[in-house]
Amino acid sequence: MKAILLTAKNQPVQLIDASVPVAGPGEVLIKLEAASLNHRDVYIQQGLYPGIKLPAILGSDGAGVVAEVGEGVDVAWRGQAVVINPAMYWGPNPKFYGSDFRILGMPDNGTFAEYVAVDKTYIHHKPAHLSFEQAAAFPLAGLTAWRALMTRAALHTSGTPEKVLITGIGGGAALFALQFALAAGAEVWVTSGSDEKLVRAKELGATGGINYREPEWAKTLMDQTGGGRAGYFDVIIDSAGGPGFAKLIDVAASGGRIAFFGGTTGTITDIIPPKVFFKQLSIFGSTMGTETEFTDMLSFITDKQIVPVLDEILPLIEIEQAMQKMNTGKQFGKIVLKIIN
Ligand SMILES: NC(=O)c1ccc[n+]([C@@H]2O[C@H](COP(=O)([O-])OP(=O)(O)OC[C@H]3O[C@@H](n4cnc5c(N)ncnc54)[C@H](OP(=O)(O)O)[C@@H]3O)[C@@H](O)[C@H]2O)c1
Repeated sequence: MKAILLTAKNQPVQLIDASVPVAGPGEVLIKLEAASLNHRDVYIQQGLYPGIKLPAILGSDGAGVVAEVGEGVDVAWRGQAVVINPAMYWGPNPKFYGSDFRILGMPDNGTFAEYVAVDKTYIHHKPAHLSFEQAAAFPLAGLTAWRALMTRAALHTSGTPEKVLITGIGGGAALFALQFALAAGAEVWVTSGSDEKLVRAKELGATGGINYREPEWAKTLMDQTGGGRAGYFDVIIDSAGGPGFAKLIDVAASGGRIAFFGGTTGTITDIIPPKVFFKQLSIFGSTMGTETEFTDMLSFITDKQIVPVLDEILPLIEIEQAMQKMNTGKQFGKIVLKIIN
């Protein structure tokens, strides 16, 4: 089968001919139709990810058809269209994952290939309203957004709509947070380093947005929302971290909840403690999600007929171009790889 292998850090990925994996006991073999990229793939290639073990076939997100079932798996799965939850072996405590937790696509071989074998526990029926390309777009980023927004920040999904700010809306997980929050009835504002992406976010339903490259963006945003010095947002979802995080404290309303799952811009600095404790803010770290959260997200996507935003669909062999695009951050929506068998 054709597969994309990363053999060493800071090297281009290679298109190789690999053996088709065998579905072991409790596993299924999936003939993949589509996969999608995450920043994780780029960080692994750049050697910026913890616990890198190579060589490995990269790719956490995939959708396809069950080609074979291993011992102990119901044969009814054969021929079913499925999507894979890449957050595997979370463990018994829903509050945090245990030592067996792993994400598909390094160290285990992932979805940038014609076939992948995975534990049956982590396959789910593909939502009928989505194409394979759309279904391959949401697993990792969607799950991350879901847990941060719905579990950690506990966005209210009924009653008075909450006010939500999502930073860096060009990010894959950020965009899912926008779609989920809007579908839950929230009033959503966004930030971006691109005015064009702010326009796109408003087209999707965001109330407003601000370019974080503007030095006084937080003040301008508070002027726009009418929040002023008191702050405005009940919930803030961030993946940038860095020095800009301190401004999130300013724009949060009293009692606000901030959930973050990334540190794209580095170390968080200059948080003034009284601003956090006088406003009674809660700050939550979040990573990926449980199997239950994945199932809940899937039901929500189906109920609300959510369709992921795709930036571009490229053939698998154009993976290096796709990785470079993700690295430059030019995309709006997920970069999807079509796997042409
Ligand atoms: N812990 C987890 O489970 C988990 C899961 C997924 C992702 N992550 C992390 O979350 C981050 C985003 O991942 P991704 O896959 O969504 O990456 P991505 O699609 O490449 O998104 C990165 C985005 O970061 C935004 N950004 C850059 N500088 C910013 C700033 N100063 N302030 C606010 N936003 C800024 C940009 O938004 P604009 O283009 O709008 O400017 C950019 O599009 C990465 O650090 C990743 O490692 C963590």
